[in-house]
Amino acid sequence: MKNLQEIARYEGGISSIPGKKHVIKLSSNESPFGPSKSVIRALSSTLAKTNRYPDGNCLELRKAISKKFKINTDNIFCGNGSDEILGLVCQLFLNKGDEVIIPEHSFLMFEIYARINNGKVQFASTKNLKFQVDAILNKINQKTKIIFIAQPNNPTGLYLSKKDLNLLVSKVPKKIKIVIDTAYAEYMTDYDYSNGIDLAKKNKNLIVTRTFSKIYGLASLRLGWCYAHKDIIKLMDKIRGPFNVNHSAQIAGIAAINDKAYEQKMIKHNKFWLNKMHGELRKLPVEPVNSRANFILIKVGKNANKLIKYLMTNSIIVRKMTKYKLDQYIRVSVGKAEENKKFIEAIRKFYL
Ligand SMILES: Cc1ncc(COP(=O)(O)O)c(C=O)c1O
Repeated sequence: MKNLQEIARYEGGISSIPGKKHVIKLSSNESPFGPSKSVIRALSSTLAKTNRYPDGNCLELRKAISKKFKINTDNIFCGNGSDEILGLVCQLFLNKGDEVIIPEHSFLMFEIYARINNGKVQFASTKNLKFQVDAILNKINQKTKIIFIAQPNNPTGLYLSKKDLNLLVSKVPKKIKIVIDTAYAEYMTDYDYSNGIDLAKKNKNLIVTRTFSKIYGLASLRLGWCYAHKDIIKLMDKIRGPFNVNHSAQIAGIAAINDKAYEQKMIKHNKFWLNKMHGELRKLPVEPVNSRANFILIKVGKNANKLIKYLMTNSIIVRKMTKYKLDQYIRVSVGKAEENKKFIEAIRKFYL
């Protein structure tokens, strides 16, 4: 049996508060809205078909993704959340003693999957929480097999500029895989942001992951996909479970990416509230990080725990950042208008 003792289990954001019937959950960067009406309609048609196994190849879903992103179906792999894909990449490319580079303060599953698959993790230092191309390159040695880049990063909401991402990819030896995790790509409207797909078309060592969990509001169905060279996709197909993506998720995924109006509405809501929340937070004695996705990391200092508890007494759940080695920070997701207002009101009262 593997020695798993030292690997900490992933803990998601909490969803309930004892004694509170209605809570405002801003702890997991989920969409605060349900899926779109067209997705709900499509989903209901799947409910009576659960006696049949799903299409193990996710062909129709891959075709829909291929059409939307103008990429070939041979370059697309669908997974049980993008999370599954991160694990499959580690399973495929790591042997005992191999090294994985992860910038500090990044998505916790990178480290967990690397270690489960006997990888040794090298953390690349960051500067003011920003990924540093040099620091990542300096960690490369003969044993390096995978580099994980969350673009934008969770929990900071920061990203490598297009220029820096290009630079990194051009300097990393081609035998090393670079995973560009773009779980929040749809929310990114900044001009110097790159979602990595064009880069992956030109570089066979890139794997770009995406998810339906965030903007499409399908977190509980577990659906993600990745773009990679067809040889990598073939390997993933070999080691995945035979029916890794359920039928409802496949049907919902197709409806979701075809509902452009809903996606635009979500982007607009997020952009408005992200700016608004940043503005309100800047008036308080806290330091919001310039997070660009659907959440804001906030430096609140030593009383982070006290603030988290205070917010909970007001039925608001935000994310504690201890596991990310950011003890003095909290992370809050953009919620519905009323939820965001209540959060701002509560944090303002805390500092009165
Ligand atoms: C950076 C990042 N990658 C991946 C995921 C997991 O996404 P999925 O729900 O597709 O497994 C998350 C979820 O919070 C995330 O923040």
